[in-house]
Amino acid sequence: MSKTALVTGASSGLGQEFARLFAADGTDLVLVARRRERLDALARELRDARKVSVHVIAADLAVADEVERVVREVQALPLEIEFLVNNAGLGNVGPFAASPLGRQMVMVDVNVRALVRLTHAFLPGMLTRGRGRVLNIGSTAGLQPGPFDAVYYATKAFVNSFTEALSYELKGTGVTATVSLPGATATEFPSVGGGGDTRLFRSGVMSPTEVARDAYRAMQRGTPFVVHGWKNRALALSVRLGPRSVVRAIAGAMNKPAG
Ligand SMILES: NC(=O)c1ccc[n+]([C@@H]2O[C@H](COP(=O)([O-])OP(=O)(O)OC[C@H]3O[C@@H](n4cnc5c(N)ncnc54)[C@H](OP(=O)(O)O)[C@@H]3O)[C@@H](O)[C@H]2O)c1
Repeated sequence: MSKTALVTGASSGLGQEFARLFAADGTDLVLVARRRERLDALARELRDARKVSVHVIAADLAVADEVERVVREVQALPLEIEFLVNNAGLGNVGPFAASPLGRQMVMVDVNVRALVRLTHAFLPGMLTRGRGRVLNIGSTAGLQPGPFDAVYYATKAFVNSFTEALSYELKGTGVTATVSLPGATATEFPSVGGGGDTRLFRSGVMSPTEVARDAYRAMQRGTPFVVHGWKNRALALSVRLGPRSVVRAIAGAMNKPAG
């Protein structure tokens, strides 16, 4: 049976890049996101250019029943998921109390709940086969509290912590878990969640191609934890060494919406 990768959030940004990297290596794909037409266009591109098999599932991962449907649909296909990339995610810049609750809950549901559910669904098969890779997209945001994007930062702290712990549990099984920590990256992310006009994004972004390539390599090697780019690695180090009060203040200043 050929190898298959399940990539969530494949309709844009990093997810699209991950799909292209898998296809270039001859890996078949299951692509998940809400925007079906984008997924269909990417599927056509990859089938034509790389001759891989691509299955599209349009689903809203903020809805628990939809996540269950994704699991059922994938399990009914004649394929085995060897690579799981939990990449779908979103942020929401603004003061917590003034931001609509629905939006905060959607972040928890997509960034955390769906990621845990899909990992729990596909890990047992990998363990039985003694082979597999989980790549979860966390963030440098998860390394510190994030005033004015508080829930997003907290969801990414969860992803970072969960995945690193999982990587330890999986030692010696032939299956690995990797958490990728991008910093500001030029995708649709700031236009979806706000933040394009924050200092964080104005102070420079990495390209999604570069970030995805680095994360993909780390996943293939089974590296537990990877921060992309020297600027982000310097930030990660300063967050570890700096006093919490300073770390909070800097994150707040970087995220505060302009105006
Ligand atoms: N860009 C950055 O600066 C940055 C930095 C650190 C970490 N990250 C993380 O990188 C990951 C990828 O984001 P990106 O930068 O590539 O942003 P993006 O271009 O906005 O892509 C986000 C993807 O997630 C999908 N998604 C969002 N809500 C969804 C839902 N309810 N159900 C299903 N899919 C959903 C979107 O698809 P649909 O809209 O079609 O559903 C889209 O494919 C995220 O986890 C993000 O937190 C990004």
